[in-house]
Amino acid sequence: MEKLIKLEQMLKECKTVLTKQDHSISNMSNCCAIIQKYFSYHWVGFYIVDDSTNQLYLGPFQGPLACTKIPFGKGVCGTAWKESKTQIVEDVHQFPGHIACSSLTNSEIVVPITRENKVIAVLDIDSVEFNTFSDKDKEYFEILAKFLSERI
Ligand code: SME
Repeated sequence: MEKLIKLEQMLKECKTVLTKQDHSISNMSNCCAIIQKYFSYHWVGFYIVDDSTNQLYLGPFQGPLACTKIPFGKGVCGTAWKESKTQIVEDVHQFPGHIACSSLTNSEIVVPITRENKVIAVLDIDSVEFNTFSDKDKEYFEILAKFLSERI
């Protein structure tokens, strides 16, 4: 299936399945499952902002085990949080301060999820291929992030 069609179907399914009546943990978990159903990436998951420690902590994910805490501004996830801006990394080995949870990851996209202009979590997707994520991925995963804002 073509990537754009997968992105559209993934988004449509998330909009059907993830409801405001469900718990944030349930929605994040099912969101990972839906993304993986279409893409089978190496790792898909959420890191959640913890204001009391100024760190991200590991949330629901699918994939190999991952680091549990990421400080503000560190790695790709911490940078997405600090800048409140999607990070597309074509080659993680070139990203200063990249946190290598898995040696198999070669590219990634991290999309911040904001509520009332504050980052509350980030969605991190890791690929074993280099240069996996495009502006189309950014567009669709940012629509998803906006949708998730009131559901996590
Ligand atoms: N690579 C991320 C860390 C999270 S793991 O890849 C699951 C980063 O640099 O923020």
